[in-house]
Amino acid sequence: MSDIRNASRKSASASTRRAAADGATDLATVDSDGARGASHGSTPQDDDRPPLRGLSDYDYTNFYFGAGTDPFGILEPFGEWWKDAEFGAGYYLYGLPLGSAPATRVEIEDPKTRENLEGLINFASYNYLGLSYRPEVIEAICDAVRKYGAGASGSPVLSGTTDLHKRLANEVASFKGKEAALIFPTGYSANVGLIAGLMRPGDLVVADKLAHASVVDGMILSKATSRFFKHNNAADLDRKLNGFSGKKLVVVEGVYSMDGDVADLPAIVDVCRKHGARLLIDEAHSTFVYGPNGRGVAEHFGLDDEVDIHLGTFSKSLGGLGGFVAGPAELIYYLRGFARSRVFSCALPPPVTAGLLKALEIARSEPELRERLWDNARYMHALMREAGVDVGDSTSQVISIMIRDDAGIFQIAEDLLHAGVYINPVRFPAVGKHKSRFRMSISASHTRAELKEGAEIIVSILKKYGKCP
Ligand SMILES: Cc1ncc(COP(=O)(O)O)c(C=O)c1O
Repeated sequence: MSDIRNASRKSASASTRRAAADGATDLATVDSDGARGASHGSTPQDDDRPPLRGLSDYDYTNFYFGAGTDPFGILEPFGEWWKDAEFGAGYYLYGLPLGSAPATRVEIEDPKTRENLEGLINFASYNYLGLSYRPEVIEAICDAVRKYGAGASGSPVLSGTTDLHKRLANEVASFKGKEAALIFPTGYSANVGLIAGLMRPGDLVVADKLAHASVVDGMILSKATSRFFKHNNAADLDRKLNGFSGKKLVVVEGVYSMDGDVADLPAIVDVCRKHGARLLIDEAHSTFVYGPNGRGVAEHFGLDDEVDIHLGTFSKSLGGLGGFVAGPAELIYYLRGFARSRVFSCALPPPVTAGLLKALEIARSEPELRERLWDNARYMHALMREAGVDVGDSTSQVISIMIRDDAGIFQIAEDLLHAGVYINPVRFPAVGKHKSRFRMSISASHTRAELKEGAEIIVSILKKYGKCP
């Protein structure tokens, strides 16, 4: 364990230096926490190392930078910590293996106790419309497997495009009411390919501070100047765009994935217009959920045509895999050549594509699914409000249950799992430090009884930990 102390000491001070350079005060707290540990009555030591604290006082931040010249030098201290932290701290709660479809009740074999947990109420899947396991979707996938086999076996720009891919791109463009659309292997690669494909060194990309990692990675890859504006704050966006005369792209999400709040699109559109900046909206969590036709938050605000680029994923409401960009035909032609994450990656498997076509057809022809989702989301918000649960700023089907205790959230998650609720704890780096929460996803498929039972379990466990009145 002394290796951990050494790695942590070196990495903490390095990350603090880096954080100071980035202005990232969240990271800077790593060092000050370490210093505070000394006054907690810990065993005095014979050197200046911070005293060893509980497993949960370390996290990935402590292992980002390592000393020495060997890139593998960090692996051993990390491995040492992980050996104890996986089960001791609760990291095993990430990536629990489901033994069933991501339906409203799921089955999980608990890797810690080896128990088979059945009938858990599932608030962890993005399956907002319950389409991943609809019989018609499964049937379409099976038919396509028989005709096309398993994979596309080629990049979409070479041999990987089938008639199914062409149809999907056309259907998405028609659904979004745009001239054209481009299909990507994932939503992640759509953001990366689009941003890095369009923006160049010397340009400016300004994204909401809470934008998804794929937006951030696209910005890094583009080598354009990157700035972040305060979450959902159009006045700060205005400041961040001020004085820049080159090409500008602004990136927001429709519904923020970890907070469940909605972009202040009218104000953001105004600022973009004022500065001549192009606007990209990532509607990963809002396509098929918001707007009279389910096109997303841009449609909800009547601003569909004011947004230049519309991006979404097939992995959330459609319950499949893949991403898309929809917009003017010239943009799509350009990206076909310049979005490297698509050019140099295999096309979506045809069976997945066939399933998406069917799921899209259902989502368009059954608006009652969206209505049911909204009924369910409103019902759960009311249950949480009545119980005094802190849901932050969430107003959508993504409900953040704020815990704000990075070390303690795993214990609460474990209790919830054994009480019958599967819900993901979210902590740094997915959200800022000290902003840990449970991210609850509501589906149109949840029954009222499941929502009520799930809420009662959550509230009783939160009470036990003093996290609600
Ligand atoms: C806002 C946002 N954009 C993009 C993505 C990436 O999508 P995918 O999982 O389809 O790669 C996600 C995933 O959660 C997301 O929340």
